[in-house]
Amino acid sequence: MRETAGRWGYREICTPEFEDLELFTVRSGEGIIQEMYVFEDKGGRKLALRPEITAPVLRMYVNEGHVLPKPIRWFYFADCFRYERPQKGRYRQFWQFGVELIGIDTPMAEAEPVMLGSDILKASGISFVTHVGHLGLMNTMLSGLLPEEKRKVRMCLDKKDLGTLGEYLDSLKKPDLAASLVDLIRCRDITDALEITGDLPEKEQIIEIFSILDNSGLEYTLNAGIARGLDYYTGLVFECFAENLGAENQVLGGGSYRLAHLFGGKDTPSSGFAIGFDRVMVARGDTSYIPEKVVRIVFTPEGRNWALETASFLRGRGIRTEMDLSSKSLGSQLSMAAKAADYALIVGERESRARMVMLKNLGSGVQQEMELEEAADEVIRSDPR
Ligand code: HAM
Repeated sequence: MRETAGRWGYREICTPEFEDLELFTVRSGEGIIQEMYVFEDKGGRKLALRPEITAPVLRMYVNEGHVLPKPIRWFYFADCFRYERPQKGRYRQFWQFGVELIGIDTPMAEAEPVMLGSDILKASGISFVTHVGHLGLMNTMLSGLLPEEKRKVRMCLDKKDLGTLGEYLDSLKKPDLAASLVDLIRCRDITDALEITGDLPEKEQIIEIFSILDNSGLEYTLNAGIARGLDYYTGLVFECFAENLGAENQVLGGGSYRLAHLFGGKDTPSSGFAIGFDRVMVARGDTSYIPEKVVRIVFTPEGRNWALETASFLRGRGIRTEMDLSSKSLGSQLSMAAKAADYALIVGERESRARMVMLKNLGSGVQQEMELEEAADEVIRSDPR
């Protein structure tokens, strides 16, 4: 993930584990406190463990980054905390890999995180689908509703609960709206979607964004029903779903938003996404992980200095190398090595004098005396990476 984000020009940043509580309530309201780990420090300040990292990154941008040339491309890999009911795929502490593109809102800029997110998930080796929507579509259709009513509709959409949505709009005496919302949500073509919604201010921007996505080779599905739980999004929104996970299969969520002005900065357009790292690991399964080969250096007191030299040589060649630390007999060092390593490099007085090593393959039991360089080549050759 780091490599792919780096190849797109993004740089890694780090923010604190906790922030002023206000950073998270200023946009989302006091209701969000229920979903966070909130505490007071010794000075009586109200703090919260970060439930996500977009707000902290934008705070960092306002405090430190606003003088940098724009757009700013940043990424992060860090843990988040949410006070939720733990269940499969939903943890109270989990890891996000995310990016934020700050200071630009051209169609190219809104499209970039969608393409990058897909590239990163592909590199992680999982099977997934990408859904892309735009809040402008839904907002136009809901323009006749009160803010509280809009919020309720978006909540139903976020939970994909069309039954409750229909009942609610019936109760507002707006059954026609329910029917056209369902049409919009089912629509898979942006031109058709824009016909359902009628004219909207962002029409040209939306057409251009989807044209970029269509020409980028990205596979995606239009989904105007994406509402996103966090309420700072302003335009494009997108989500990715792993194909082999259960109910909690959303592995990525993101979109365009504006937050900087809430933290004392200038109004700044931004976009980004975060990947649920734990869910990606579950989707990969543990079979795909091939650990690197480990060499354990076992030695007698007379061989110690040569053993130290061999270890630093092997590490210099990029080989995982451990020294035996037990000072026990060669025999017991070897049996401990057999439990934890792939090779033993045996260094006694004789090897030390000849500046040779004895390399033992702990899988096959075959051992052979050789030059140190030869031993390194042998280990590297045998490593699948
Ligand atoms: P989010 O959709 O709340 O968005 O979270 C992003 C991803 O984090 C989700 O798609 C999911 O994979 C993972 N995730 C969320 N909660 C949990 C949990 N309790 N346990 C395991 N994984 C979880 C955001 O956080 C936004 N800050 C994304 C963003 C960045 N938007 C713009 N820039």
